Amino acid sequence: MRFFNQLVAVCISLLVATTSAGFVSYPRPSIYNKSAHFSLKVNGTYAYTVSYAGYDYVQLSMDEGHPTEFRIALTDESSITSYNISPLKTSIPATVDGNELVFTVTTANYLIVEINDEKKFIILADPSETDVPDTTASNVYNVLNYTADNTGATTTKGVQAALDAAEGHAGSIVYVPPGLYIVPNLYIHSQTSLYLAGGAVLRMSDNPDDYKHDFYKSGDGNGTWWIRTDADSKDIKVYGRGTIDGNGQTIFHLEPRFIADLLVPVGTTNFKCDGILVRDASFWAVVPIQVTTASITNIKILDRFNIGQNDGIDVVESTDVTIDRAIAITNDDSFSTKTWPYNVGTTVPYPYKPRPLRNVVFNNCIAWTNCYGYKVGQGIYESQDNVTFTNSVVYTAAVGLGIDHKFGTSTVSNVSFTNMDIEGLHGTNFGHATWLAVLVELDNGAGVGPVEGVLVNNVTARVLGKYNSLVQGYNSSAMVSDVTIGNVYVHNSTVPAKTLADIKVLDTDYSEGIKLVNN
Ligand SMILES: *[C@@H]1O[C@H](CO)[C@@H](O)[C@H](O)[C@H]1NC(C)=O
Ligand SMILES: *[C@@H]1O[C@H](CO)[C@@H](O)[C@H](O)[C@H]1NC(C)=O
Ligand SMILES: *[C@@H]1O[C@H](CO)[C@@H](O)[C@H](O)[C@H]1NC(C)=O
Ligand SMILES: *[C@@H]1O[C@H](CO)[C@@H](O)[C@H](O)[C@H]1NC(C)=O
Ligand SMILES: *[C@@H]1O[C@H](CO)[C@@H](O)[C@H](O)[C@H]1NC(C)=O
Ligand SMILES: *[C@@H]1O[C@H](CO)[C@@H](O)[C@H](O)[C@H]1NC(C)=O
Ligand SMILES: *[C@@H]1O[C@H](CO)[C@@H](O)[C@H](O)[C@H]1NC(C)=O
Ligand SMILES: *[C@@H]1O[C@H](CO)[C@@H](O)[C@H](O)[C@H]1NC(C)=O
Ligand SMILES: *[C@@H]1O[C@H](CO)[C@@H](O)[C@H](O)[C@H]1NC(C)=O
Repeated sequence: MRFFNQLVAVCISLLVATTSAGFVSYPRPSIYNKSAHFSLKVNGTYAYTVSYAGYDYVQLSMDEGHPTEFRIALTDESSITSYNISPLKTSIPATVDGNELVFTVTTANYLIVEINDEKKFIILADPSETDVPDTTASNVYNVLNYTADNTGATTTKGVQAALDAAEGHAGSIVYVPPGLYIVPNLYIHSQTSLYLAGGAVLRMSDNPDDYKHDFYKSGDGNGTWWIRTDADSKDIKVYGRGTIDGNGQTIFHLEPRFIADLLVPVGTTNFKCDGILVRDASFWAVVPIQVTTASITNIKILDRFNIGQNDGIDVVESTDVTIDRAIAITNDDSFSTKTWPYNVGTTVPYPYKPRPLRNVVFNNCIAWTNCYGYKVGQGIYESQDNVTFTNSVVYTAAVGLGIDHKFGTSTVSNVSFTNMDIEGLHGTNFGHATWLAVLVELDNGAGVGPVEGVLVNNVTARVLGKYNSLVQGYNSSAMVSDVTIGNVYVHNSTVPAKTLADIKVLDTDYSEGIKLVNN
């Protein structure tokens, strides 16, 4: 199997990618420039870097289990005087060799590398692909056979034509080879998959008229669900190492503004998404809405810091959803869950009446945001129960971990934050700047409701934030109750904090049953 994969990788390389055994770097799409600051060699072979806003990045796949050398060179400075590799918990030992930072790993990692005062450099390494479609198979619909323009010269209908051709053929796969495709809304049909090869970019055009105006959000303008599943569908998968580019820098700044949710699994059952890179969202990037059973893995969301509400992943009114191995670099919240009212603003296109949210897990994620790293809220119009954030990292945020019950009157229950590492905090979000904020607020008459049952355990809080942590309700009918906090390691301490005051949990009006329990 391993040999077979390598053979596939080598064959592909002759056409498009840079490979050495067990390592693939995908060709840099023509519209992106290479980094002006960094180069990366993996086991001696250059990978394609990409220049971006606020940070540069490089994406690759690699076999795991054997030592693989990463050699980052500063291309515009001659020496390295300081560096940092996050997540800090990976404790990757590195050495400096002139203008190069060198380290060896045996697993694929998402890493945020800081060198001197340069912009950050994000390494997005995934495990090698195991499920590349056989393009000669009869269930594979290559978009190039449906007149898709892979040059980006025109807005192409070819990708949708292939998706439509696949409709009704359970198990069929629409294959998008490397290239640049400017596409209108895409509708993925029941029991079909969309495969984006590494080096393939689906991009939004500059023209709102190319898109369905699905909703109107006051203060922003018209919005679309760019790439979505059909409602009442099942067994849909979006995968590969390709890129979904929301062209947010352009459409968000149009007059009037246009916004888009980029990838919207909606009203679907058993949805899977694996390996995609999503960038430049003008609004919430990846939004499972009214979905039952979904798995989203190996996802990389790279947004800009100058665009308003470009959340990474917002799970909305869905059940049994797992987000695993994800990085979301966003201006707004990186990872959150929400429930909304019926048929207003952004919820106008929802297929069903409002639904509760249950059993959602965020595991092994990395958040970098100007707002919340991990959050339940702000909409709590239907109940949200059993939400787990675990084994995850806040690189930096205004608020690390939180529940913000701001709109709606339903209950939030059974939320846990465990094995979390908060590396940094900065700025403020609505006046909050803290490692932990659990609060009920009243906004514009949108109601209040309770928060019951919160577990915060095994958190490395390398910083606590500028202000107090809040664990507070709104009034006696909207309390925060039953909050257990334990094993919080503050700054560099190896022993957990012994009092709530030590972790600045001091703003506790309208709360009951806050316990500090270390084991
Ligand atoms: C890098 O090279 C080492 C030594 O040859 C090899 O064991 C390892 O598999 C290589 N890594 C990758 C991802 O190709
Ligand atoms: C790429 O570089 C060229 C030349 O400096 C510049 O004109 C262009 O705007 C850059 N494109 C992007 C996407 O940064
Ligand atoms: C298009 O389909 C034909 C067979 O119908 C096949 O021979 C050809 O290779 C296909 N081209 C692509 C790009 O898939
Ligand atoms: C929103 O789109 C509608 C058409 O769907 C259009 O009439 C209206 O002017 C647009 N509004 C804004 C603010 O873009
Ligand atoms: C909570 O969610 C997890 C993960 O989806 C699930 O395994 C567990 O059974 C749920 N707990 C309850 C009580 O439903
Ligand atoms: C919280 O979870 C427990 C099971 O672990 C369940 O019995 C209880 O109903 C949940 N709370 C709410 C409000 O759903
Ligand atoms: C605590 O969390 C860290 C990650 O932040 C993890 O490495 C460690 O194993 C966890 N400890 C326990 C006892 O689960
Ligand atoms: C709590 O505040 C809400 C919203 O203003 C209000 O409807 C409710 O009556 C209040 N409850 C109490 C006990 O004051
Ligand atoms: C934590 O340790 C690091 C490295 O040893 C040090 O640079 C930092 O100042 C320490 N932070 C605190 C708050 O003590």
